[in-house]
Amino acid sequence: MIRAVYPGSFDPVTFGHLDIIRRSSGLVDELIVGVLNNNAKSPLFSVGERVKMLEEVTEGMPKVRVLSFEGLLVDFARGVDACMVIRGLRAITDFEYELQMSQTNHKLDSKIETAFLTTSLEYSYLSSTTVKEVAAFGGDISQFVPKNVIDRIQEKYRRK
Ligand code: PNS
Repeated sequence: MIRAVYPGSFDPVTFGHLDIIRRSSGLVDELIVGVLNNNAKSPLFSVGERVKMLEEVTEGMPKVRVLSFEGLLVDFARGVDACMVIRGLRAITDFEYELQMSQTNHKLDSKIETAFLTTSLEYSYLSSTTVKEVAAFGGDISQFVPKNVIDRIQEKYRRK
């Protein structure tokens, strides 16, 4: 039984994240999407909102569960009995940070392995940060995020 954690901020979930969720859930028995609860990053969406949006977009995926976590990723992974962490790699610019993170995690708990999936080409440019920037200026984000997320981002920026 292979249970993996796909961690991230998901502020908000994009089609790039969904691509990694779909492809990695096909490789494992259970995939737990771990949403980092870290207010130091001043997210646009609360952790509850981010979890809700992820639950909506993964509704038809029986192997996928969405949970939030605080603190160290390795502690969360151990707590849910996962032996693997999944991360997406978009470009070489992601590599240095991801390598450092996976090596740190391996030092903290050598039983937890990190596996990388390269993002599909059509999403290699995409990030939650750019989605928020385009949305903040009223741009069209329908190519970047699912419909439920579009509605929530627009509502956020209407209120600001
Ligand atoms: O979507 P992100 O912001 O790139 O995800 C980063 C995340 C949540 C995977 C990373 O910040 C994380 O694991 N944070 C938990 C704290 C931790 O375990 N730090 C030690 C590893 S460097």
